[in-house]
Amino acid sequence: MASGVAVVLAGGGAAAHGLTGKGGAGDGAGSDGSADVPAQLRRLLPEKYVALISLDIGRPHGALRETVKRVRAAAEPDTSVGFALGATLFEPAKSIPHQLKEMPHFTGDLLDPVMSHGDVLAHVASDKAAAVQKTVEHIRKTTSPHWTVRWHINGSRPANRVENGRGLARNPFHFTEGFGNPGTERESLDRALTSADQGEPRWAVGGSYQVVRIVRFATDLWDKDSAREQERIIGRRRDGVWLDGTPADEQPNFAADPTGRLTPLDSHVRLAAPDRRTPPPIVRRSYNYDRGNGDTGIIFSCFQRDLAQGFEAAQKRLEGEPLAKYLLTTGGGYFFVPPPGDEWIDTLS
Ligand code: HEM
Repeated sequence: MASGVAVVLAGGGAAAHGLTGKGGAGDGAGSDGSADVPAQLRRLLPEKYVALISLDIGRPHGALRETVKRVRAAAEPDTSVGFALGATLFEPAKSIPHQLKEMPHFTGDLLDPVMSHGDVLAHVASDKAAAVQKTVEHIRKTTSPHWTVRWHINGSRPANRVENGRGLARNPFHFTEGFGNPGTERESLDRALTSADQGEPRWAVGGSYQVVRIVRFATDLWDKDSAREQERIIGRRRDGVWLDGTPADEQPNFAADPTGRLTPLDSHVRLAAPDRRTPPPIVRRSYNYDRGNGDTGIIFSCFQRDLAQGFEAAQKRLEGEPLAKYLLTTGGGYFFVPPPGDEWIDTLS
């Protein structure tokens, strides 16, 4: 399928999640997908360009409503705007999604507080770079007594496309990412959206925990390794084909390679998803960034209904992996994406 074609995650799965939000006027300025799914997850193929803008708003009465209104008003045509909420917004911790907390330091992280956390994360996305850029400028120029921009980063997805139901893009290490994501809309939403039986506050049902990690890549060092060495570190070929020759969209036979002769046991994919029958319950939708002066890498972003079983379990398994020496995580945060509609604003204001 051609890049830029809007592949929509329709609303069918949302009903299964017991969504009761009002829908409609919610998070999508110029959205082209189902109003039952948060803007960040509405399209199977993420938009080609994104800006993440972290705002500190404190908790004065009305600040949240005003912030959402002004950010939505700043959106250019052809952009979608979504919001995610940081733990600091819930102080005191009333009505907080029960797993939401400040993102901890993981081994090897060098989190810069100036590029981490925040009360509200605005997610501005479009297939047009200029539309994202202009929206960011409008937001930066908006004088609000309520917010300060804490941090901001732009991202893009080169070679953005859908193959066999999965959104794929090329990362700065020359590898294609996205194969390990679910191949159906239903499975994506099941992994990403909280459901009514999880004991979350009512307003948070049908939302999603979002993890953002700004990961700088040592591309010079990486490029000194041969393609074969790189592929053994990742555990797939650059084009996604498995090291035992299995096509990219089929399951490899790890059981036939118990010692890791073909696919090393400490390769990224074997550690990330050791049991092929139960894949990690996360949906990855990352963007590349390039801030000049060699500061390039990935805005790793993933969505899940359960933070501990999702990102945190996979991150723990990946600790100390051979890929880690090429990576430095410098920022990001844990956020909660509210369900569509404005019920969350009414509840939290
Ligand atoms: C930031 C640096 C990272 C790079 C360069 C990277 C790269 C890749 C690549 C190339 C693949 C194979 C293609 C695919 O399935 O998408 C992959 C798979 C995967 N990665 Fe990462 N990744 C990174 C970080 C992470 C993190 C932080 C997590 C989670 C904590 C993670 C979880 C996964 C999972 C679950 C898979 C799918 C495994 C499978 O089903 O085979 N990755 N990654």
